[in-house]
Amino acid sequence: MAFSRLIEAAAAAEAPTIVIVLLLSFIFYLRRRNSSSSITRLPPGPFQWPVIGNLHQFGRLPHLSIQHLANKYGPIMWLRLGYYPVVVVSTTEMAKEFLKTHDLAFSSRPKSGVGEHLVYNYKSMGFSPYGDYWRHIRRVWMTELMTPKRLSSFRSIREEEVCSLMRSIWEKSEQGRVAVNVSKAIDWISSSIVWRTVAGKKCSEDRDGKDLCDMVKRLMLTVKEVNGREIIPCIGWFDLQGVTRRMKETHRIFDGVAQNIIDQHINGRKREQSSDVKDIVDVLLEMADTGAINIQLDSIKAIIFDVLTGGIETATSSLEWTMTEMVRNPDIARKLQQEIESVVGKHRTVTESDLPNIEYLQCVVKESLRLHPPAPLIFPRESTEACTVGAKRYVIPPKTRLMINVWAIGRDPAVWEDPLTFKPERFMGKDMDIKGRSDFRMLPFGGGRRGCPGAQMAIGNMELILAQLMHCFDWRAEGDPSELDMSEALETSLSRKHNLFAVPTLKLLNCI
Ligand SMILES: *[C@@H]1O[C@H](CO)[C@@H](O)[C@H](O)[C@H]1NC(C)=O
Repeated sequence: MAFSRLIEAAAAAEAPTIVIVLLLSFIFYLRRRNSSSSITRLPPGPFQWPVIGNLHQFGRLPHLSIQHLANKYGPIMWLRLGYYPVVVVSTTEMAKEFLKTHDLAFSSRPKSGVGEHLVYNYKSMGFSPYGDYWRHIRRVWMTELMTPKRLSSFRSIREEEVCSLMRSIWEKSEQGRVAVNVSKAIDWISSSIVWRTVAGKKCSEDRDGKDLCDMVKRLMLTVKEVNGREIIPCIGWFDLQGVTRRMKETHRIFDGVAQNIIDQHINGRKREQSSDVKDIVDVLLEMADTGAINIQLDSIKAIIFDVLTGGIETATSSLEWTMTEMVRNPDIARKLQQEIESVVGKHRTVTESDLPNIEYLQCVVKESLRLHPPAPLIFPRESTEACTVGAKRYVIPPKTRLMINVWAIGRDPAVWEDPLTFKPERFMGKDMDIKGRSDFRMLPFGGGRRGCPGAQMAIGNMELILAQLMHCFDWRAEGDPSELDMSEALETSLSRKHNLFAVPTLKLLNCI
């Protein structure tokens, strides 16, 4: 996260300006504090400094910083990140208060430069505030784009891409002689599936395709930079022009790509793909065409934005962790392979219809998401009204941001037995909801109304790719697997700090 860099930037700026800014904000801060303390009973929390609030207590891995604070102040805390008041929640019970009892009050999103400049003035479902537009676009997602029927219509895309991944892995490993960059393979498959599903295109074949991949990376970095800057507006303003310029430039590039995709779909249809699978852009254009559902061009582009930025990196980092756990825990990997084999046999590759029959596979995916959620803190929500929470009846004022430490919840020793051990068996025989609707013991997809709309698609993809990788190959780390480096790095999602390399050995000829 950019917090520490923000503070460095502040220190580097001219000292007199800083002093004035500090003084002004301190006065402002005292006034705010006086005006609000009489009516609210806020949760406990550390002292808040003027201007920066508690920013100095955040390191490069904010979920760890928060857990550290929560050990001292408890499962619900009151902090300030720069200018913004934040309520921070670190247990299942508290998460339930916010995602179930007060889900509606906390269903909005803060205003943001990304929302305004990058996604067509809040047309993206991810960045749009609570209201009619958001409800409308959410209905489009839930009733048109992410229905089981629609998802199964993309099945051939997934199966084709996964098969070609297996061949590519075997080639890259020079028939099992050298280690492959597993991180790269996973990155490639996640991008390919999402791009084909949304736009009927592939991202990494030719030059044109490489540009597409780079564009998504650029989008993600811009979102991260802008959100970081906005935490302390008065420091962000030092380079506001520069940031806004970069954001507009990124917007221009994205808009060009999105317009191009839409044009190609309208005239002459998509070039390369001969398959008759309707991709997401097809579906949206058809809706716009028939007028069955009111959807404007900007909304279509914003949906493309949401799918690309929400669906690729998160999937990549999740699967990278799952494969890491497989390499690190050979016994579990072997058990998974046996379970797959007992359903699929040794003479054909896994298909999607096999997946529901391999319970252990689902457990491995869940266990991996529990320990390694791609978004360790949910994307901040903002309250639109005051609400009273918990047994101590804290009053949370409107316009408070909500942060849930998903990472800590998944590792809470009060909820999980032996929480740091990778043990898929804990999910056997339990049909546990992991989408944050009825169960709040792990929240890899957030939860409540603002939960990730693509959760089902993400889980399905993970299961298929993992099953195929494990059915086709045995995997071996170079060196001692139990010493595999497990450091985390928070870029745009919580991924491995170092890329994973492993040597595959072919188990099934049909795979290549
Ligand atoms: C491995 O793949 C990752 C992700 O694509 C990439 O960033 C990295 O440079 C690759 N490492 C090597 C040594 O090729």
